[in-house]
Amino acid sequence: MREIKIESSVMVYEDYSTFSEQEIKLFEKAIAACKTAYAPYSQFYVGASVLLENGEIIVGNNQENAVYPCGLCAERVALFNAATHYPEVSPKLLAVTIDYDRVASEDIAFPCGSCRQVISEFEYRFKTPITLYMLGKGQQVYKLSSVKQLLPFTFTPDNLK
Ligand code: THU
Repeated sequence: MREIKIESSVMVYEDYSTFSEQEIKLFEKAIAACKTAYAPYSQFYVGASVLLENGEIIVGNNQENAVYPCGLCAERVALFNAATHYPEVSPKLLAVTIDYDRVASEDIAFPCGSCRQVISEFEYRFKTPITLYMLGKGQQVYKLSSVKQLLPFTFTPDNLK
């Protein structure tokens, strides 16, 4: 018998002072994307933005539905939107945030399990890690080097071989 231990690490920043102009632009786009989220059922408004290798920033937000499971999270809307426009270009950075003006929670929102799986597929597809930023209230940022920090023991296309 042996035990395999998994370690995760997240960097926590209290403000944007150490981030580049490009990262701050990415954050601002995620914050703006929350404002047009369609979340009449949960009133939990989420925005996401993806910086691609070619410099483009693509956004998404959560889109709910009266048939609840039909809705989709902001992260997946953003990534699928990016892959629709630029199927050959790898996503490098992904920022996600909630609308702290309209959501009572003060907590940072991490991507849900399904979004983690989808982000993992993008890392596999483009053979490159995606840096993840969870934006909190004010200018707080949690930064992760890859979705592997959130989803170890991932199921990948290799499992299907
Ligand atoms: N949601 C996201 O868009 N991203 C997350 O990371 C967590 C949850 C959405 C799904 C649903 O529309 C609402 O937030 C409440 O779960």
